[in-house]
Amino acid sequence: MGKPSRVILITGASDGIGAELARQWAARHREAVVLVLAARSLDKLEGVAAACRSAGASVLVEPCDVGVKADCDRLVASTVHAHGRIDVLVNNAGVSAHALLSDVPDLGWYEDVMRTNLWGAVWCTHAALPHLLASRGQIVAVSSLAGLVGVPGRTAYSASKFAMTGFFEALRVEVAARGVSVTIAYPGVVDTQIRYRGYDALGRPAGRSGLDERGAMSVETCARLILDGTEARTRDIVMSAKGRAGRWLKLIAPGLVDRLALKALNQEAKA
Ligand SMILES: NC(=O)c1ccc[n+]([C@@H]2O[C@H](COP(=O)([O-])OP(=O)(O)OC[C@H]3O[C@@H](n4cnc5c(N)ncnc54)[C@H](OP(=O)(O)O)[C@@H]3O)[C@@H](O)[C@H]2O)c1
Repeated sequence: MGKPSRVILITGASDGIGAELARQWAARHREAVVLVLAARSLDKLEGVAAACRSAGASVLVEPCDVGVKADCDRLVASTVHAHGRIDVLVNNAGVSAHALLSDVPDLGWYEDVMRTNLWGAVWCTHAALPHLLASRGQIVAVSSLAGLVGVPGRTAYSASKFAMTGFFEALRVEVAARGVSVTIAYPGVVDTQIRYRGYDALGRPAGRSGLDERGAMSVETCARLILDGTEARTRDIVMSAKGRAGRWLKLIAPGLVDRLALKALNQEAKA
């Protein structure tokens, strides 16, 4: 009997980075992978699934709102029921937000950001953990450079991504000796629709990007870096030279990092 196909569960797989990651995984490993694709938009998931199937991968499509714990539990249960194992869990589903705190009249949507970006990843990981321990598998968390450096105008988003970073750094140490690795990806600005869909100060879809989109990384490059880093069981994937420099600069000259962040915010305000 040949080796069983690896079962890869990706949240937020209907669009953007998660969808591209699924397509690249299928193209790279074909029938050696089973992809479980989760998000809320079933029609978009089916489109991604068709592309993955045509590359030779088996695909299970699972509607799931990661902001609902019961959905996360069901996603993991359906995966194990259908395929008996989970080898890789990619916590990628996420929402963006852009507002100055002083412009926010009601913090209700801050809780929604935390529920999707943090709690969705925590609920999926908790439900999948026994299966990942059994397979000596891998956890991937898609955080953000905003999870390493606080970004003005992004208190909700940065808080959710710092929280993800803390959760997965701590978990990494808990599970390492039991054969499970944790890879945290820190993309910078990637060319997807996330900022246009993200919350504005009033909790509505922003309809515009609050960032400078020039020089955004392509979604193909971002997904390739995540896939390469996952396959190498890399600890952290910090995606841009600016991101890598910012991480060190914050240790030796934190005030300078603040000033650069404020300058970027002021430039955006003028744009
Ligand atoms: N693009 C960037 O510049 C960038 C930079 C740093 C980090 N990131 C992170 O990368 C991840 C992917 O972002 P992206 O740029 O690919 O965004 P995107 O194109 O907007 O895609 C987001 C994905 O997450 C899913 N999603 C959103 N809310 C969900 C929920 N409640 N339950 C289940 N799925 C949900 C969406 O599907 P449905 O709407 O169908 O549910 C979609 O598949 C996010 O965690 C984001 O924070 C992105």
